[in-house]
Amino acid sequence: MRHFLTLKDFTKEEILEIIDIAIEIKKDLKDGVYKKQLEMQTLAMIFEKSSTRTRVSFETGMFQLGGHALFLSNRDIHLGRGEPVADTAKVISSMCDMVMIRTFEHSMIEEFAANSTVPVINGLTDSYHPVQLLADYLTMVEYGVEKDAVVAYVGDGNNMTHSWLMLAAKLGFELRIATPKGYEVNAEIIEEAFEIAKTSGSIIKVMNDPKEALSGATIVTTDTWASMGQEDEKEQRIKDFKGFMVDGLMMCLAAKDAKFLHCLPAYRGQEVSEEIMDEHTEIVFNEAENRLHAQKGLMVWLNKQRG
Ligand code: CP
Ligand code: NVA
Repeated sequence: MRHFLTLKDFTKEEILEIIDIAIEIKKDLKDGVYKKQLEMQTLAMIFEKSSTRTRVSFETGMFQLGGHALFLSNRDIHLGRGEPVADTAKVISSMCDMVMIRTFEHSMIEEFAANSTVPVINGLTDSYHPVQLLADYLTMVEYGVEKDAVVAYVGDGNNMTHSWLMLAAKLGFELRIATPKGYEVNAEIIEEAFEIAKTSGSIIKVMNDPKEALSGATIVTTDTWASMGQEDEKEQRIKDFKGFMVDGLMMCLAAKDAKFLHCLPAYRGQEVSEEIMDEHTEIVFNEAENRLHAQKGLMVWLNKQRG
């Protein structure tokens, strides 16, 4: 049995296997074919933070695979009133077939997984957002831009950045990360990524100049400047991130026909301009839809590992 907590725990081959299943599942859905690969299975979804895409994609995906999903907000279950994580994990995993968790501390999901008898999926923690990266990579493949990709991430050194680091390090593409001073990626995670990159050949560069990161990039991406849980810092961050908005002038520095990705929700006029969102609307909303297909691929893959 395997959990899906970070991409760090997965080989390149395994990540590509999940993407291949997702591609097949997406094609089936477009052809009106529903294979009940998770019939009679239940997915418990624990949300300690808000969500639009993660909730809708997991719940819809589970239904389309013949299973059922339970939405469990921490306001409704005893976890939010202090029942221990380990006890919650034992109880839920004794009744459900998979668990998806969106929470704050990454250690919470690790503790849950250690006490769970069924696969646990990270639906976002303060440290990582790996299911988003499956959808992002699926999008790169669909648009034929995954080969020799040079990805520029401009913005906050956060859970998305850490997941981009792991994906690049595992799959071997070039990643440049530009953050304002004081908002750099976690030092331990970057060290791990550098170590993994030695085997894959990935070139990873971190810097504070967005223009340098964008120069010749084939894919440009960003994320909100204030993640969930950082609402109080929003005003300060808007000041500190001055010069980091991905706008038309910035995109001009990237390669001709460079693609733009955004995990959403997007804050137009902050990390990205309205103009860039409009120009790249097709790929960005396809990226969002790909959450559904990628996670169905992931759940089918995790189910197969149980034998
Ligand atoms: N990108 C993403 O995870 O969106 P939600 O927060 O809406 O789930
Ligand atoms: N970094 C963002 C991602 C949202 C999908 C957050 O954690 O809020």
